[in-house]
Amino acid sequence: MNILAVESSCDETAVAIVADGRRVLTDCIASQVELHRVYGGVVPEIASRKHIEAIYALADQALLNANLIRDQIDAVAVTYAPGLIGAVLVGVNFAKAAAMAMNKPLIPVHHIRGHIAANYIAYPELEPPFVCLVVSGGHTMLVDVQDYTKMEILGGTLDDAAGECFDKVARVLGMPYPGGAALDKAAKEGDETKYVLPRSKPGANPLDMSFSGLKTAALNLIHHEEQVGGELDINSLCAAFSAAVSDTLVPRTMMALQKCGYKKLAVAGGVAANSRIRADILAAAEQLGAKVYMPPLSLCGDNGAMIGAQAYYEYLAGNTADMSLNAYATKSILGEAL
Ligand code: KG4
Ligand code: ZN
Repeated sequence: MNILAVESSCDETAVAIVADGRRVLTDCIASQVELHRVYGGVVPEIASRKHIEAIYALADQALLNANLIRDQIDAVAVTYAPGLIGAVLVGVNFAKAAAMAMNKPLIPVHHIRGHIAANYIAYPELEPPFVCLVVSGGHTMLVDVQDYTKMEILGGTLDDAAGECFDKVARVLGMPYPGGAALDKAAKEGDETKYVLPRSKPGANPLDMSFSGLKTAALNLIHHEEQVGGELDINSLCAAFSAAVSDTLVPRTMMALQKCGYKKLAVAGGVAANSRIRADILAAAEQLGAKVYMPPLSLCGDNGAMIGAQAYYEYLAGNTADMSLNAYATKSILGEAL
C-alpha cells in the first residue's frame, strides 16, 4: 500500500511516499529554517505562506523520485494536529484535495504519533508494546504504546517542552534558531560541574516533569554574569543545562519502563537527536536489560515519512476521514473519535 504523506505542522513542508508503513520510497523536505532564523523563531504567518508555495511542487517531486504515477498511490495521509494552525491547515487542505482528486482514502495522523512511528522505519522488527519517550520542540511525554493506535500517556511536562527550553537558552546565548543542535555541540566542549542547575520534581505523578524552573535558572545565570561583567563559560553552561534536562528525562523513562514491564524503549522527536540524552538513555536502559530504539538523526526532526508510517497503521485500524476533516492546533495523542 503506497501512502502519500504530507506534513506541514511547523516550519518544514514535507511529502513522502511510504510503502506498507515501513519502506520509504521517497522523503522530500523543504525546510524554512533559514527564513525564520532572522526572527529568532518561527513566524506562523510566514510558515503558512511558504507551505502553500512549496507543497504542490514537493508532491510532484515525491512522485517523480519514487517513479510512481498518481494511480499507484493508494491513500493520502496528513498531519491534522497538533501544530501552528495556519500551517497545519495548508497540509490538510492539500491532502483533502489530493485524496478527492485521486478518489483515494484520506488518513489523518497525529503529529506525535508520527514521531513515534519514525522508529518503525528505522527498525523493521519493532512492534508494540513499548515505552516511548517523546521529546520534541512542543511536546515532552512518556507514552505507553500498547499497540500501533492504542496508547496511554504515563507522564509529561507540566509546563515547557524540553525542546522549547533548549531553544530559549540557546537563543539567549546568541545561537541561531533552532538552537538545540548548536547547544548540544557546545556542551561537548564544556564542564557540566562548573554550574549548578536545578532538577525539579513537580506534582504527584513521579513520571511528570517540569522544565520552566530549569530554563529560568539558566537564563538568570546568563543575565547575572552579564550584569556583573563576569565571563560566562558558554560551553560549560550548555553542558550543565544538557545534563539537567537528561537527568530529568532519563530516570523517569526508566521508571516508566519498569512500571509497564516492557523491555523495549523507543525515543522520538527532535530532541531525541541530543547526544547527551542518547548516551544516558543507552547506559540506563542497558542496566535494565532493555533494548533501545532511536531513529537516525534524519528521522528525529519533522518529516513526511514518519506520517506515512503511522498512517498505514491508522488505516488498518479504520481511522480514515472524509472531507469534513479539520486541522487542530492542539489535540491529545489518545485516539479520540474524529
Ligand atoms: O520534533 P521537532 O523537529 O519539531 C517539533 O515537533 O517540535 O523538534 C524540534 C526541536 C527543536 O526545539 C530543536 O532545537 C530540538 O528539537 N533539537 C535538539 C537537537 N536537535 C534538535 N535539541 C537538543 N539537542 C539536539 N541535538
Ligand atoms: Zn515534530
